[in-house]
Amino acid sequence: MLRLEGITCAYGPVAAVRDLDLEARERAIVCVLGANGAGKSTTLKAIAGLVAPLSGRIWLAGRDITPLPPPQRVALGIALCPEGRRIFPEFTVEENLRIGGHIASREEVAQGIARAVALFPRLGERIRQSAATLSGGEQQMLAIARSLMSRPKLLLLDEPSLGLAPIVMRQIFDRIRAIRKEGATVVLVEQNANLALRIADYAYVLANGRVAIEGSAKMVAASGVVERSYLGA
Ligand SMILES: Nc1ncnc2c1ncn2[C@@H]1O[C@H](COP(=O)(O)OP(=O)(O)OP(=O)(O)O)[C@@H](O)[C@H]1O
Ligand SMILES: [Mg+2]
Repeated sequence: MLRLEGITCAYGPVAAVRDLDLEARERAIVCVLGANGAGKSTTLKAIAGLVAPLSGRIWLAGRDITPLPPPQRVALGIALCPEGRRIFPEFTVEENLRIGGHIASREEVAQGIARAVALFPRLGERIRQSAATLSGGEQQMLAIARSLMSRPKLLLLDEPSLGLAPIVMRQIFDRIRAIRKEGATVVLVEQNANLALRIADYAYVLANGRVAIEGSAKMVAASGVVERSYLGA
């Protein structure tokens, strides 16, 4: 489904991601772990087209998407749910969802909202409330639901559990599983390694922009190396 080959990204003179190879099979949940500044968000931005790599190629379903701008990647089925949620607090839940569906027809938007509500019933109960009145967990649900409005085949999630209570994290992770079950491939960036490894099939651990460790989520979890060396825990 997704393949990164030798991706290097830099902001000015300092490389944030170095010669990165990464793959996600269709309908897999692949997690990307690593300490602050390891290059996780930059990797997702490169996949979404928000950061142009200095070198390397990105393939989606056999097609080289490296030169494509972000809107064309959205049209091909890539959606990014960014770090920090970026919802519009003064808009209602429904309006926030409509923004995510801006490239869709009216009917598709209605279907998208129905799907979002089925996936996150609490958003349905709060559909006309302003997003500012939602709890942190509900805001994260809204951010994920909004990124699903374009019906992505590949969903990129940047730290969805950030700042949430453990019980709410588990609810969000349960929904990520449900999204995969509906057919999406998920690349999940997380600092909460234990939770992410529990739902992922495959894991990459980044350190200083490079892949330090990769393997099945089970293998990476069992190695214990995640906590010891790379997450500062
Ligand atoms: N817009 C930017 N301008 C300059 N440097 C940046 C920019 N964004 C990120 N960096 C640098 O690139 C490196 C990787 O950043 P990135 O955001 O990808 O890390 P991350 O793994 O997502 O970290 P975190 O866990 O803190 O979100 C860091 O050293 C960071 O300071
Ligand atoms: Mg980040």
